[in-house]
Amino acid sequence: MALRGAPMPTTLLASEERAAELKQLAGDWLSHDLTTDQVDHLELLLRGLLAPADGYPPGRPLAVGAELAGRAATGEPIALRDPEGVVLAALTPSSIQSDAIAGRVEGLELPLRYDHRELREDLDAAGGLAIFTSVPLHRSGIEAARQAAVVTGIPPTVFLMVGGRTEPFALVRLLKAALPHLPDGTKLRLLPVAPGDAETRAAVEANANAAAVIEIDPGTPDDTFPEIAALLAEVDPPRSARGLTVFFTGLSGSGKSTIANLLRVRLNERGGRTISLLDGDLVRKNLSSELTFSKEHRNLNIQRIGYVASEITKHGGLAICAPIAPYDAVRKQVRETVSAHGDFILIHVATPLEACEARDRKGLYAMARAGKIKEFTGISDPYEVPGDAELVVQTTGCTPDEACDEVLAYLERGGWI
Ligand code: ADX
Repeated sequence: MALRGAPMPTTLLASEERAAELKQLAGDWLSHDLTTDQVDHLELLLRGLLAPADGYPPGRPLAVGAELAGRAATGEPIALRDPEGVVLAALTPSSIQSDAIAGRVEGLELPLRYDHRELREDLDAAGGLAIFTSVPLHRSGIEAARQAAVVTGIPPTVFLMVGGRTEPFALVRLLKAALPHLPDGTKLRLLPVAPGDAETRAAVEANANAAAVIEIDPGTPDDTFPEIAALLAEVDPPRSARGLTVFFTGLSGSGKSTIANLLRVRLNERGGRTISLLDGDLVRKNLSSELTFSKEHRNLNIQRIGYVASEITKHGGLAICAPIAPYDAVRKQVRETVSAHGDFILIHVATPLEACEARDRKGLYAMARAGKIKEFTGISDPYEVPGDAELVVQTTGCTPDEACDEVLAYLERGGWI
């Protein structure tokens, strides 16, 4: 391992007076809302961890979209705002590309962080051994770090790369559990660097003031310390204890509500899970009473259902949703929202239109055919058949109870119940 000299820390943060002046002026400037990844990168830039860059170089300009790039002129500053609208920096363009801008940056303030603030300050290895990781350390990784520290007599600083992951509570708890096994004086710091971003990581390595960077294999959960194993079980529970959303989609009258209600009852009979049913018609009475059946409003309706389901999932509950949800893109969006907190299972209740219409329990198909209901799914409005359903159930040729049994069997096979 090569020992490095300590570069002088630099920062692109303006003085207090200059920052106040820029803030005043920024009201008249063009403005760019930074993505969370861009906020991460700007923070590194402002903290001097990407030095010698004094802004966005032409080889790595800031992506601002074609519209803003088209309106920008060299010399006229652009306000860079965080997602809440706070001006973090002024960018003075020196070169403008089709949808990105390079130029000098003056920082007004560092991005506001709510979590782990003590670990996000002072991102300086202060002559220590730098260890970069994006995963927890287990027995062999901890042992390797300890040996390197013993051999060199230099304490490690563990840099946890958490870019793109806003509030890494579980990861930090796991790494804190490793600290007692590491030499006295080992520091833990959070870096807003995305785990796969080798270029940014290399720049930070060069600027972090480390005596040396050591590469260690983090080890595996199969061979770890008992308290880390216990913590792992807590932060990454088995499927049977993790939040879950079961999302039924299908035409009106396809049997979604019936199967969803049977599932709710059968799960409640078994016990061990708290269940909320977000049925299409009920949601339309409560949460979405002002919405129509336009594409926009249907999507808004599904987004609301998805949001509630994701909160239920986050708290370890089981949400059963049963709207028509005719549009693929918004179903995928719900899957993504929920998957951040737990598991998501899409079930297509694939009853053919003819069967739904023949049943017509609510008399709505007749009204739609007569033109008395406009934009009726399957008649005068589209239904996009899902290509990503975990399960497709038929209700022609089997009873709703049998369809529910199929769903229960799927949940059992997968270990959710
Ligand atoms: S979604 O498209 O936004 O997912 P949702 O499941 O909430 O639909 O509501 C569907 C229910 O509303 C149907 O079961 C039916 O009873 C009723 N409904 C009233 N108008 C329509 C319509 N134009 N298209 C579909 N369903 C309708």
